[in-house]
Amino acid sequence: MSEKSCIVMDKVSYTVGGRSILRDFDLRLEQGENRTILGVSGVGKTTILKLILGLLKPSSGAIFIDGIDISGLSEKTLTQTRKKMAIVFQGGALFDSMTVGENVGYRLLEEGELSEAEIEAIVHEKLGFVGLEKAIDLYPAELSGGMKKRAAIARSLAADPEYIFFDEPTTGLDPIGVYNIQQLMIRLQGEGKTTLVVTHDMNTAFAVSNRFSFIHEARLVFEGSREELQLSAIASVREFFTPGEESLFRYVEAEGDHETER
Ligand SMILES: Nc1ncnc2c1ncn2[C@@H]1O[C@H](COP(=O)(O)OP(=O)(O)OP(=O)(O)O)[C@@H](O)[C@H]1O
Ligand SMILES: [Mg+2]
Repeated sequence: MSEKSCIVMDKVSYTVGGRSILRDFDLRLEQGENRTILGVSGVGKTTILKLILGLLKPSSGAIFIDGIDISGLSEKTLTQTRKKMAIVFQGGALFDSMTVGENVGYRLLEEGELSEAEIEAIVHEKLGFVGLEKAIDLYPAELSGGMKKRAAIARSLAADPEYIFFDEPTTGLDPIGVYNIQQLMIRLQGEGKTTLVVTHDMNTAFAVSNRFSFIHEARLVFEGSREELQLSAIASVREFFTPGEESLFRYVEAEGDHETER
């Protein structure tokens, strides 16, 4: 369980307010792998990313980053481990009061290890990578949704992470915006980055991943290739791909008892 160069979640459970969000969840993400985590809204996908980043602590189980169990780390050592990882949050989460360039350089500036000139060069390079060099002095409010996502990707790349997590990277974008984001992700994978994506956009999931984990009611119910996923006989997986009358009925029932159903 403690091998190098991978992310391992070993029987991780996470309970909040007496509610079980994850139960005995296992994930093994090898370096260079491109995985997508699937599951209906509210099932716990973002929670998984926050657990890996150490922003949330598991109620039980262990999480290893390159062989190091992060649950036992002090905040200072955790910061070192976090440097290997970056997340593009659902919605981008840019700082509204900073320009695009400042958003991208912010983390490096905070770390204080590089000169301003070095940081500026990195900011230009990363914004060039996502095609946003001309937007360097704009504020997030002046960007379109697709540009915000690309700025968020540039920011995540600033510290040159090994592992990049994408939380719903294409939600709300038009087909061209979706294509642009997919191409950026594929280019990063071509550079050897390990990517973990959370999405319900199957087009993107299939474009950028070769392995899939599916969560249903707090548990991992499927893990495998695209072919295995599409041929799966697991009821929750099949329903996800082809919702029908049954899904509508369950949804209506869930409305009255939201907390326990979802
Ligand atoms: N701090 C919290 N306190 C209580 N419940 C929480 C908290 N954070 C998340 N939850 C609950 O945990 C569940 C999982 O949330 P999470 O954001 O991980 O879902 P998700 O799969 O990412 O959903 P979506 O696809 O809509 O983004 C949700 O039902 C949410 O209501
Ligand atoms: Mg989410």
